[in-house]
Amino acid sequence: MTNMRLYVNIDHVATVRQARRTDEPDPVRAAFLAELGGADGITVHLREDRRHIQDRDVELLMQTVRTCVNLELAAASEILDLACAWAPKQATLVPEKRQEITTEGGLDLSTEAQRSKIAHALERLTDAGIRTSLFIDPDETTIKASVDLGADAVELHTGEYANARGEERRERLARVHAGASLARKLSIDVHAGHGLTYENVTPVAAIPEIEELNIGHSIISRAMFTGLEGAVREMATLMRRARSPR
Ligand code: PXP
Repeated sequence: MTNMRLYVNIDHVATVRQARRTDEPDPVRAAFLAELGGADGITVHLREDRRHIQDRDVELLMQTVRTCVNLELAAASEILDLACAWAPKQATLVPEKRQEITTEGGLDLSTEAQRSKIAHALERLTDAGIRTSLFIDPDETTIKASVDLGADAVELHTGEYANARGEERRERLARVHAGASLARKLSIDVHAGHGLTYENVTPVAAIPEIEELNIGHSIISRAMFTGLEGAVREMATLMRRARSPR
């Protein structure tokens, strides 16, 4: 893919494995198939509670992924130690709550305490040679705070857009677009993700400032019926078409 990267989140493969605490399905094999299907990167979230991805997975992915590992993590010292030792090409800082089903909303950068925690995490990751991204809601203040903190990129949260319908969806899309434009104007790279599906990805992929999408649930769900390689290829095709509609 030339002008927009598709990073495939394979956490759900590990979720199925952990349901039985066995050794299949293996996310490492999933990463290989996703790359065969045209993924530009592999995203995994190593949660503090290790509910899906395990340390062993990241260790093996670091050795086998040919494209790029994007490690999602909370700004927690134990996970930061691991991230710095593994040194994936990219790390995305995300908020983490024990009770959540999946990541809910972007990072809170509204207080000095929160900003200083994220600043410390960014410094550690950057010193380890890792490209950094902050998962945030597409609002002006948080985008400006991310720029001030010196992250390489922001990942704009598209979950509100994905969950909305009708007029509200158009408004949510406009917010993502405005956020992407502001971020680019402030010279920070723009990623996006959460809740994107085969049905709703096109308007987001058409936003020219966005250079990377992180997509998991929808691709892994389709893969159960059609196979992972083909599911990734289909998503990559939709994204490409959104950029150059015929
Ligand atoms: N981006 C971030 C920061 C996430 O936490 C997730 C979910 O793990 C995704 C993207 C992918 O979301 P989905 O599984 O809904 O495609």
